[in-house]
Amino acid sequence: MLEDGKLYIGTSRNPDDSLNKGEYLDLKYGNRHGIVTGATGTGKTVTLQVLAESFSNAGVPVFCADIKGDLSGIAVMGQPKDWVDQRAKQIGFDDFAYQEFPVIFWDLYGEQGHRVRTTVAEMGPLLLSRLMDASEAQEGVLNIAFKIADQGGLPLLDLKDLQALLNYMGEHASELSNQFGLISKSSVGSLQRGLLVLEQQGAEHFFGEPALAVTDIMRTTNDGRGAISVLAADKLMMNPRLYSTFLLWLLSELFEELPEVGDPDKPKLVFFFDEAHLLFNDAPKVLIERIEQVVRLIRSKGVGVYFVTQNPLDVPDTVLAQMGNRIQHALRAYTPREQKAVKTAATTFRPNPAFDCETAITMLGTGEALVSTLQSKGIPSIVERTLVRPPASRPGPISDAERRAVINVSPVAGVYDKDIDRESAYEILAAREQKAAEAEAARRAEEEREARGEEKDSAAGRWSLPGFGDRQEDDDRRTTKTTTRRTSGYQRETVIEAAMKSAARSVATSVGRAIVRGILGSLKR
Ligand SMILES: Nc1ncnc2c1ncn2[C@@H]1O[C@H](COP(=O)(O)OP(=O)(O)OP(=O)(O)O)[C@@H](O)[C@H]1O
Ligand SMILES: [Mg+2]
Repeated sequence: MLEDGKLYIGTSRNPDDSLNKGEYLDLKYGNRHGIVTGATGTGKTVTLQVLAESFSNAGVPVFCADIKGDLSGIAVMGQPKDWVDQRAKQIGFDDFAYQEFPVIFWDLYGEQGHRVRTTVAEMGPLLLSRLMDASEAQEGVLNIAFKIADQGGLPLLDLKDLQALLNYMGEHASELSNQFGLISKSSVGSLQRGLLVLEQQGAEHFFGEPALAVTDIMRTTNDGRGAISVLAADKLMMNPRLYSTFLLWLLSELFEELPEVGDPDKPKLVFFFDEAHLLFNDAPKVLIERIEQVVRLIRSKGVGVYFVTQNPLDVPDTVLAQMGNRIQHALRAYTPREQKAVKTAATTFRPNPAFDCETAITMLGTGEALVSTLQSKGIPSIVERTLVRPPASRPGPISDAERRAVINVSPVAGVYDKDIDRESAYEILAAREQKAAEAEAARRAEEEREARGEEKDSAAGRWSLPGFGDRQEDDDRRTTKTTTRRTSGYQRETVIEAAMKSAARSVATSVGRAIVRGILGSLKR
């Protein structure tokens, strides 16, 4: 039943329930995306496990999230289990054999897998706004914050960097507004509170260094199998916005980092997006458009995106239209919304004259699905009622001890486990504040001298903006006394420039690349 270049999904049935034929996903069209839908308990997770196994065996690395912990068994060998063995027998799957898979466990919280982090700078203002549920005005301020950081060479690594920058912006709102556009103090305040909430929700674990290198989720083993990255998402799901923003960030990283490959023989990576409805739930239109764009374009980078969700209506039409490979488990049709979902799901398939799609969807058994995949020339196959093959690895969770064993021998063991806290915006701004305090002290001293009737040194003291003063430059001014350079406009520019320059100097190596942002606002390389 195993064919070269094709992944065996299961075996379809004729209207009289006799076996029809094997149903396959053509690796050549693995990057043409897919969707797995169905009501709860109908077999979606097992189907995901089966697909992940098959991709791995074909040498394609896989990334997936483990929402309930019941996908982790993919790391260990399957063992006799009633429904597994029955299903293998039912479909005449003679080649069936238990197998374990090369799994890398990841966890934002570092408990059930290797830490996954990114930096605030990499995530960018668009996704961060989404993460914080920012209003339009707040998003505007966040954009300015990134502009200031980008131009000033202030590395925004973790949340405390962003917090420090926002404090700074709040304190210097009027000066910075002249240069960068309106910064409302109340928006800054809301963002600061939003950051605190994020921290309380544990998002601070996720921001920092070392940031995840996407190459680490694109590994293959020496014997040519694709690594399966499993992200522990049970705890993460308590914060659905963090979950969905994180996966979206990862998708956008892949998109920005991977080279164009056109249509490869098999995908470079397959990305399963479980609970995909969270991605689109009350997402602003512009974000949906960008997601649609990334999904469309990432195909030519060899990445296949597979959405897993209960209801096909969860996915916007423009995105749904791009899903070439479709697996529809049973849906209930009690409420009008459910009936509508069944209708929609039925119309997305190339019809099979042998049965009525709409009726079939409500009648499918557990582990049975309507399947249509792209065949030669990218034409969808006629939909078939398919008994999905059983998984070769263990269905359900693994024990903590088994998980530890997998983590300990992982190819990234030790790489991401410790936080690195290098100099970033927080430290730079703290140093700058220190400088400003010194400048302020100097100014006071001068005022006192003035009050005592002594000659004033220069106008510079009066103009130095707190936090922007460059000591060296202030000293220069003091020595050059009055010259034509001392116009207020010039000075304002000078001090800002100087601050930027001094920041840039101290972190010259940490920026090191032009800052260009991609479709979803993450950094382009
Ligand atoms: N391919 C299959 N063959 C036989 N039985 C299956 C198959 N897939 C699933 N089942 C049965 O259905 C049960 C539930 O499957 P699964 O956990 O995949 O459902 P689900 O759709 O992910 O549910 P939920 O929405 O609750 O996460 C399995 O424990 C198994 O008993
Ligand atoms: Mg499930």
